Amino acid sequence: MSADTPEPVSAEPVSAEPVSAEQQAREAELTARVLASFDGTADPRLRQLMQAAVRHLHAFLREVRLSEDEWQQGIEFLTAAGHITDERRQEFILLSDTLGASMQTIAINNEAYADATEATVFGPFFVDDAPLVELGGDIAGGANGQPCWVEGTVVDTGGKPVPGARIEVWEADQDGFYDLQYDDDRTAGRAHLFSAEDGSFRFWAITPTPYPIPHDGPVGRMLAATGRSPMRASHLHFMVSAEGLRTLVTHIFVRGDERLDSDSVFGVKESLVKDFHEQTPGTPTPDGRDLGDAGWARVRFDIVLAPDQV
Ligand code: BEZ
Ligand code: FE
Repeated sequence: MSADTPEPVSAEPVSAEPVSAEQQAREAELTARVLASFDGTADPRLRQLMQAAVRHLHAFLREVRLSEDEWQQGIEFLTAAGHITDERRQEFILLSDTLGASMQTIAINNEAYADATEATVFGPFFVDDAPLVELGGDIAGGANGQPCWVEGTVVDTGGKPVPGARIEVWEADQDGFYDLQYDDDRTAGRAHLFSAEDGSFRFWAITPTPYPIPHDGPVGRMLAATGRSPMRASHLHFMVSAEGLRTLVTHIFVRGDERLDSDSVFGVKESLVKDFHEQTPGTPTPDGRDLGDAGWARVRFDIVLAPDQV
């Protein structure tokens, strides 16, 4: 390994600096007292959560031998995250996402089941009253970008078509912004539709392009200080729900995107990387839509929903 290549980091705790046995005992005694203060918690799950959180927090403090200045900086970081958070901006979700905590929670709660489509991060830009479009409709709503035809089917893990599945789709425009990030009240790059009797769906969207997560706040400063990029790999968000089946929150990613290996929120899974086939201008569209001399793309996403009790 060359002098400028950092050692690969282990996911295991590093051994603490040498600390005297007496000091270790004092620290362990404090941790034990804090843990015991939750012994009387009536709700056993809450007791488990609080005690595990304390155990891991104290282990972190002791492992890194946190200085008081560093503790103060941590408090200031969390305070800044609170101050920048409002109904349109959720810095704590960004923090969870960039630390991989969102994806770890998703992994724990969406165990692989048969060939069910994999889940990925929800992100902060979903709204629950996006417009309805018909099958074949356009979710772009005026968002800038290359038109992209998206089609597929929704089936269960037995291969049975799922009619009437509610399919929510949302995406950033080609300038890298979701409609919510503009100061006007536009609705663009989002809609919902329902799968047909045979489980099929189709709609126009725009070809996803890479964009940064909001990085003008404390999470952005953390990324900059640690040499990490705020960029997300290009993607189109889906949330698919149907009676008796596990709701799927996922995206599809664009094969060939150079950011697939460095997505800032660790959301990429190989099974979700799809071929977006570029069509030269003038290629007839599947529904006869006249795109003039614009090029367009098409992608297929076949969705398999797990049963909701697995
Ligand atoms: C997004 O995909 O829109 C997103 C996900 C996590 C954090 C920020 C944005
Ligand atoms: Fe997104």
